[in-house]
Amino acid sequence: MVTTDADSLILTTVRELVAERVAPRAAEIDESGAFPMDVKELFAQNDLLGIPIPPEYGGLGGTFLTYVKVVEEIAKACASSSLIVAVQELGMLPILIGGTEEQKHRYLPKLASGEWIAAYALTESTSGSDAAGSMRTRAERRGDTYVLNGTKIWITHGGLADVVCVFAVTDPTKGPKGISAFVVEKGFAGFNVGKKERKMGIRGSPTVELNFNDCIVPAGNLLGTEGEGFKIAMQVLDKSRPGIAAQALGIAAGALEYATNYAKERVAFGKPIGQHQGVGFMLADMKTQVEAARLLLYEAARRCDEGAPDVTLWAAMAKLMCGDVAMAVTTDAVQVLGGFGYSAEYPVERMMRDAKITQIYEGTQQIQRLVISRSLVGKASKGTPS
Ligand code: CAA
Repeated sequence: MVTTDADSLILTTVRELVAERVAPRAAEIDESGAFPMDVKELFAQNDLLGIPIPPEYGGLGGTFLTYVKVVEEIAKACASSSLIVAVQELGMLPILIGGTEEQKHRYLPKLASGEWIAAYALTESTSGSDAAGSMRTRAERRGDTYVLNGTKIWITHGGLADVVCVFAVTDPTKGPKGISAFVVEKGFAGFNVGKKERKMGIRGSPTVELNFNDCIVPAGNLLGTEGEGFKIAMQVLDKSRPGIAAQALGIAAGALEYATNYAKERVAFGKPIGQHQGVGFMLADMKTQVEAARLLLYEAARRCDEGAPDVTLWAAMAKLMCGDVAMAVTTDAVQVLGGFGYSAEYPVERMMRDAKITQIYEGTQQIQRLVISRSLVGKASKGTPS
C-alpha cells in the first residue's frame, strides 16, 4: 500500500509532468482531435495508469484518493489527457471486480503498465441511461465460446483499446440479471471498430462505435458468472464516477485559476477588473463552488478506499456536484474574460466545451439524482410514474 508520503510524491511528480509536458500540448490536442500517444507513454512511464490497482496485478497499490487527485491535477490543464488515466481505470475495474485470479493476472499487469489500452463498453444507441432495460447486444453460448452480436456506441478509447470489457444479454427473459460481462481482445474475430464521433469537447479522447458480428469470445473470458454482468457494471461505475468528478473538478479549478489571474491583470475603469465587485463576487462564488466540490469528492474517494456500504450514493453526489460546478465555473470564467473568453486563443473556451461532457457521461446528472433519491426513499415499484 502506498503511504501518504508516497502519495504526495506522486502528486508532486504529476504537477511537474503536467506543467512541462501536458499543459503546453493542451490547445493543440484539442485542435487536432488526435489522441496524444506521447502523453499516454509519459503516464505509463510514471506508473500513473494503475494507481489503485494492487501491486500483485502490476499496479501501484495507491488509494482512490490519490487516483482522483491525479486525475484532477491533469484535468486542470487538459481534460482529454486526464481521460487517459480515468478510462484506463474504468476499463480495468470490471476485471478487478469480477475477474478470476487467472483473468486478473492475464490482463491487469499489461493494462496497469500501459502496455495495453483498456475500454468499457456498456452504452448502446437505445440504451444510455436505461443501461439494463434497453440493452440489445446478445451473447450466446456455443460450446467453449460465446458469440457476441450487437453495437456499442460512445466508447471512449474503444478504437485504441487492446482489451474491451463488454456487457451483453445472455438471457433476455431475466432483465438486469440476464446481462453478462466479457473481456474482448481487439484481435478476436468479428470485433470491429466503427465510426468516430465528432464532439464538442474532450476532442483528444477518441470516442467510437464498436461492432460485434458473430464475434467469438472464449468462455474463459466471461467475468463472474452468467447474469452477474450488470451488477459488475454498476459496481465499476461506483468507483469510476469519482474519476469523472475529479476530471470535472480539475477543469473547474483550471478555469478559476486562469480567470483569477486575468482579473488581476486586466484593467478597466482605472483598476484591475477583479477589484470591481461585479467580477470579484463572481470569482468568490467560483472559488467557493470549487472548494465545496473538492471536499465532497475527496470524501467520496475516501469512502471508496474504505469500502463503505454507501459508495453508490457518494459517487453519484460527487459526480453531480463536480459536473455542475465545472459547467458553472467554466461558463463564468468565459464571462470574466469577456470577448477573449469566447476566443479559442484563450483556454477557458476549451475548458467550457470540455466541462459539458462531465454532466452527461458515466450517467447523466439526471441519473445521478435518480441514484441519490433512490438511496433516500427507495426505488418506485414497476409501473409507478417517476
Ligand atoms: N452496485 C451493485 N448492484 C447494483 C448497483 C450498484 N451500484 N446498482 C444497481 N445494482 C443492482 C440492483 O441491486 C439490482 O439487483 P437486484 O434486483 O438483485 O436488487 C440490479 O442491479 C438492477 O438495478 P436497478 O433496479 O436499480 O436498475 P434500473 O434499471 O432501475 O436502474 C440505473 C439502474 C441506476 C438507472 C443504471 O441503469 C444507470 O446507472 N444508468 C446510467 C448508465 C451509465 O452510467 N452509463 C455510463 C456509460 S460509461 C461512460 O460513460 C464512460 C465514458 O465514456 C468515459
